[in-house]
Amino acid sequence: MTKTLIAGGATGIGAAVAPAMLDQGEDVLVADVNAQGLLALEDMAKDLPGSFTGFEIDLGTPGAPAAVADQAMARMGGIDCLFVNAGLMLAARLEDWTPQMWDRSDAINLRLPMFLTQACLPALRASDNASVVFTSSTGALRGHAGMPAYHATKSGILGLVRALADELGPEGIRVNALLPGWIDTPFNNGFWDHQDDPDGTRAQIEAGIPMRRHGRADEVAGTVLYLASDAGRYVTGTQLVVDGGYTAV
Ligand SMILES: NC(=O)c1ccc[n+]([C@@H]2O[C@H](COP(=O)([O-])OP(=O)(O)OC[C@H]3O[C@@H](n4cnc5c(N)ncnc54)[C@H](O)[C@@H]3O)[C@@H](O)[C@H]2O)c1
Repeated sequence: MTKTLIAGGATGIGAAVAPAMLDQGEDVLVADVNAQGLLALEDMAKDLPGSFTGFEIDLGTPGAPAAVADQAMARMGGIDCLFVNAGLMLAARLEDWTPQMWDRSDAINLRLPMFLTQACLPALRASDNASVVFTSSTGALRGHAGMPAYHATKSGILGLVRALADELGPEGIRVNALLPGWIDTPFNNGFWDHQDDPDGTRAQIEAGIPMRRHGRADEVAGTVLYLASDAGRYVTGTQLVVDGGYTAV
């Protein structure tokens, strides 16, 4: 049985991974700042065979990695899959960016994956199929005006994955990046708000996606299940793009 810690999963992609794991009878802990979303997941989990714990916390705070790792050990007794999925996308014109905006983006998008992995290391070492998955983005491969910190940090995750895969590979701990394309979740609200013509921008984006539509969170979740499973045992240090072909063309 896999014990999965999801950092950022009260809505969207993480909230699709949780029930998919629970449906297989596995243990899942979701750490998230969204208390209402956690309660909704808890309610849904009652009908599924696995065991669910919600843990309310702001993952961007310095003490979060240790608190979350401790909570996961207390509630699940181990961690086989660490899915670090919380993200922050701030949008502003270059002249309006502040160091505080940059630091907050870094804290959630890049510092959290690094130090949560560090905090979970003893648990991951004890697993016989440890899998760490960081959510990057196709934004690591392409850029959009107004979001320098998002693109920089999501690109940084790819380097972090390679470094940690090299360091932890000898111990059998695998580290990979998930790169979703355009997925319909609350996450992109800030992006749409930054557009002069959100509907026009959406139509333009979808015209450039070979599958001609946004993806759904449940269409991304399977990649995390695969990476946590026996089928993924030799996959490490790489990036899995799930984008309907967006970056292929
Ligand atoms: N939706 C997309 O189109 C898309 C595309 C590429 C990458 N991504 C990435 O996917 C990941 C998940 O996003 P999503 O689309 O599922 O969006 P989402 O907003 O539905 O999910 C993100 C979750 O992380 C939580 N979170 C964010 N900041 C937090 C914090 N400081 N402390 C605790 N919890 C926090 C949110 O409450 C939410 O539950 C993000 O890393 C995002 O960058 C999304």
